[in-house]
Amino acid sequence: MTELGSSEGLSILDFATTRSLPLAAQGATVNVPDEYMKHESLASASVEGLAIQRLLTFAQHSSMLTFVWSDRAMRAVSASPAEYPLAAVAIALTNAVHVQDAGSIPRPFDVEKVREQILKHRLKLDMVSERQILLCLDHEKPSLPTDLYDPSSKRLRRDDEFEAFVDDVLFAQHGVGLNPAHLSKFRLPIAVILRELLENTDDHARTDLDGSVIKPNAMRGLIVKRIMQQRQVPTQRAEGSPPLPSLEFTVFDCGVGYYDSFRRQLLRGQARGLPVEVGSKQVDTIRAHALGPEVPIEVEHSVLLKCLERHSENAIPDPRPGHRGLGLYEVLRALKLLKGLLEVRTGRIHGYRSFLEGELRLQLESASSNTRPGMPKASLLDVKSKYLPKPTAHEMVRGSSVRFVVPLV
Ligand SMILES: Nc1ncnc2c1ncn2[C@@H]1O[C@H](COP(=O)(O)OP(=O)(O)O)[C@@H](O)[C@H]1O
Ligand SMILES: [Mg+2]
Repeated sequence: MTELGSSEGLSILDFATTRSLPLAAQGATVNVPDEYMKHESLASASVEGLAIQRLLTFAQHSSMLTFVWSDRAMRAVSASPAEYPLAAVAIALTNAVHVQDAGSIPRPFDVEKVREQILKHRLKLDMVSERQILLCLDHEKPSLPTDLYDPSSKRLRRDDEFEAFVDDVLFAQHGVGLNPAHLSKFRLPIAVILRELLENTDDHARTDLDGSVIKPNAMRGLIVKRIMQQRQVPTQRAEGSPPLPSLEFTVFDCGVGYYDSFRRQLLRGQARGLPVEVGSKQVDTIRAHALGPEVPIEVEHSVLLKCLERHSENAIPDPRPGHRGLGLYEVLRALKLLKGLLEVRTGRIHGYRSFLEGELRLQLESASSNTRPGMPKASLLDVKSKYLPKPTAHEMVRGSSVRFVVPLV
């Protein structure tokens, strides 16, 4: 991993790489160059959610950020900001100022109107755009997107409203040659996953360890994107077959992350569902340390798995129509139904589960299991080592970013 020299010459595109970022305690300048609009890496799968999480982590460590916009980037983003998720997040930061790069004298860039446009955005269903973002702000002037929240009660929309929302998104795919009748079987599981993940950002990622609203930025969001998804560990037969045309949904937040939210519940004795059970040695570590160098990566990993299986006992092997389980375990199960892929980035963990067609089938309960035959085990493989469940420590990031991919074929 190469280190980027100083915060002076940072580009917004640096967040879309894996190079480590400079510490920015004193604030930093971030350029938004012309190339931002046509940068290929942002069009590819998985990159943008991770870039946003790195930007939010960087902003968390900075007193103030200054974004210097090229004229072209400023004009393109101002025209349809929700179609540029990374730039939209930059504009919504509360500890940032924006200037236009106009030669020797930078001119201020009035971002207020653009910010308003981002916050009011409703998903455009013409699907001309390849990617869009919906943003929730929980700090300063709170704002919730009406596609996801009921404006009068400010509560997450009901299950049936999520289903209608997903219907609209899926129907729009008709325009790119996919068969809506074929897609209709996807609506329920997608709605379940989306709602569970968004509800989790609402429940677990808006407040700090002491219960106060996260500062300086309390931001959460959803990105919807059309992508081509590669298999992670293809079977021999699928080797060399083309990537799958898919819809990618990314739900991100800049909360305390999975480990610390679990720890918060442990310390307060507050967990919902099953009582928290981890090995007694691990409990001592978790009680003693917030996420940091004192916490072995294995402990952080097993906390994430505990989170995944929190509601697994509520799951029933053969769900009746209309049955809904709870929580992340239900997300895993819906994903299996969709033959999809899930990726979780939080703290130092970057794990995934894949049920894609042509992917090696790993980590299912055996068909003869008494309790959950053929259902997914609550496990994650490491994105770097691909088929090993053993975690590797990635760069520490703030909050969480969970993406799930639904093949549309
Ligand atoms: N976005 C998130 N940020 C931090 N922690 C999370 C997040 N989502 C889930 N978690 C952790 O995972 C646990 C399990 O989530 P879930 O299965 O949805 O159950 P529940 O929300 O009922 O606790 C949560 O209790 C929380 O500790
Ligand atoms: Mg939940």
